[in-house]
Amino acid sequence: MRISVIGCGYLGAVHAAAMASIGHEVVGIDVDQRKIDALARGEAPFFEPGLPEILAEGIASGRLTFTTDIAAAEGARVHFIGVGTPQQAGGYAADLTYVNAAIDTLLPHLRAGDVVAGKSTVPVGTASDLAARVSPTGATLVWNPEFLREGWAVQDTIDPDRLVAGVPTGPEGERAADLLREVFHPAVAKGTPFIVTDYATAELVKVAANAFLATKISFINAMAEIAEVTGADVTQLADAIGHDERIGRRFLGAGIGFGGGCLPKDIRAFAARAEELGKHESVTFLREVDAINLRRRDRAVQLVVDALGGSVFGKRVAVLGAAFKPHSDDVRDSPALDAAVRLHGLGANVVVTDPQAIENARRLHPQLNYTANRDEAVRGADAILMVTEWDEYRRDFTPEQASALTDGRIVVDGRNGLDPAAWRSAGWGYYGMGRP
Ligand code: UGA
Repeated sequence: MRISVIGCGYLGAVHAAAMASIGHEVVGIDVDQRKIDALARGEAPFFEPGLPEILAEGIASGRLTFTTDIAAAEGARVHFIGVGTPQQAGGYAADLTYVNAAIDTLLPHLRAGDVVAGKSTVPVGTASDLAARVSPTGATLVWNPEFLREGWAVQDTIDPDRLVAGVPTGPEGERAADLLREVFHPAVAKGTPFIVTDYATAELVKVAANAFLATKISFINAMAEIAEVTGADVTQLADAIGHDERIGRRFLGAGIGFGGGCLPKDIRAFAARAEELGKHESVTFLREVDAINLRRRDRAVQLVVDALGGSVFGKRVAVLGAAFKPHSDDVRDSPALDAAVRLHGLGANVVVTDPQAIENARRLHPQLNYTANRDEAVRGADAILMVTEWDEYRRDFTPEQASALTDGRIVVDGRNGLDPAAWRSAGWGYYGMGRP
């Protein structure tokens, strides 16, 4: 099928390449010439495992092209909108400038029967407004939220755990849903749940999912706070409650908390939208979720300060990790980088290392020292702060290796990913999050 993907950021670039890899003829469109040039050369503008391969394959097959010319969308039967909806400057609500601009520029190129499939995360109510603008062209708007995780984006796009389509009522909606089923044919054929809803439900599914995940993380981090004053161990607590299938162990990783381009902004935008709807009390708890999450950053920094005797001034601190999570080079609202910046502000000589995110981190915070080499970061450090659980900092980093690099014997485990017994028996002071 001929498909256009408007917006070639994280979501759009992956979506375009993934759609080509399952056999569609795809044009990716973006206003950013540099991004388009890179993609057209087969270069992924960000680190995402598997993306370079499907980009190269799609381009070589001739099924995947990129352009800045919106007219190239003409002739596609489905037009995916994958532009960003960042947090508004000076507020919590989502900024819909890019979504509105994408729809405006696309309108003259739509034909009757086309489907416009919105994938961007938007405040509930947006789709029905956009539908009113799309309808006069004879095209149909559907809302098809995206649930991909960075680091697993290719797999999540090609083989999602569910597909959701918010459609208008009646035959027009049914036809549009059928067209989407055709787009996602490999997933549909293997029985992936395909849930057809109205617009509002589809929009809410997305924000509700992210709000739930954020709440789950903050719940366990709240338990970590209680563990810290009672001597309990939150990791054992998470294991124990996680055995209850109704609870489940995933996303109960206590530590420095969540970050990234989605969870933090989505819960804020949700709260802002609920307030507009006169229902702020329904999601007041999300403010708490946010506050708990931010307190964990303070806690990690405080652990380093306390372990170093009350001041980090002039002390060398190796910060292992800059990305908001492993398998990503994304530093948007990264708890890891935030902790590094705060320690720098307290006068520490901070050296940040990360296998993928150094360039992005440096652009945002040029005042910090960076090295791509873990051992160089650790060499001579008074304390180590592990904040992104890459394998090279967690699984493949032993206390013996660290001891050979520095006389410092303090390790703060911001992700509860290290083995306290191993570090302690090697003579290190180990400090976890919510662990004795
Ligand atoms: C999140 C959702 O998981 C996706 O389903 C969604 O599609 C995406 O947002 C989006 O809205 O586009 P992502 O931002 O890639 O995906 O990251 P997650 O894997 O959800 O992790 C978010 C943060 O939570 C990371 O900083 C991670 O370190 C942290 N986290 C995760 C914890 O602190 N503890 C955990 O147990 C799990």
